[in-house]
Amino acid sequence: MSVNEQPGKKRIGVLISGTGSNMKVLAQACQNDDYPAQVCLVVSDKPDVKGLDTAREMGIDALAFPRKDYSSKADHEAAILKALDEADLDFICLAGYMRILSGDFIKKWSGKLINIHPSLLPLFPGLHTHDRAIAAGCKVHGCTVHFVTEGMDEGPIIAQAVVPIMPDDTSDALAARVLKTEHILYQRALKQLANGQVRMTSDEKSEFLNSLDENDQTDQNDYLIS
Ligand code: GRF
Repeated sequence: MSVNEQPGKKRIGVLISGTGSNMKVLAQACQNDDYPAQVCLVVSDKPDVKGLDTAREMGIDALAFPRKDYSSKADHEAAILKALDEADLDFICLAGYMRILSGDFIKKWSGKLINIHPSLLPLFPGLHTHDRAIAAGCKVHGCTVHFVTEGMDEGPIIAQAVVPIMPDDTSDALAARVLKTEHILYQRALKQLANGQVRMTSDEKSEFLNSLDENDQTDQNDYLIS
């Protein structure tokens, strides 16, 4: 057992492709004794990203699997899946992982694989969500944590948070505002999942099993909903 092992907690793997600020916030939340999960492995498809350094500084195993090192998407995913299996994980969080996972990967981790997306799904799946929300004239934007299913950004919603769009907002300003809210929402949604308060049913719906604990209830205000 490694020094950082926290027995009794759900074991989490996080897949990233870049900065890893969501990963960092999840890992920080996991350091609290009463948080029901621990980040055991961080995987990136890019070798030189900040998120890998951050994970290592926090004492978390962090592995890079550059796509160019593998002759096919299937081989690339097989290598990642092997590392995830070896880490004996309960759940996987996608946090800015910029590759589309195959159906086989998603099926293998069905109900145990979640993602954070920077929009109020089902609005604006895919890329450039902040530009698109501004261009559409939306007054609010936000982020969504959802189970991952085969349709891109289509899986059942676990939690959402809303942020305002200001009249003079640039895409960058809005992205920064949303990212701050992502950091609150993701660690809260992972807590629900690890506590068994939400699960995905066989017909791919989110089922909420227990009420939130007292501390989480206080988060249930106008902009942060699950
Ligand atoms: C976040 O906005 C996330 O929603 C999106 O990519 C960004 C990743 O940021 N999928 P970070 O790497 O967690 O800082």
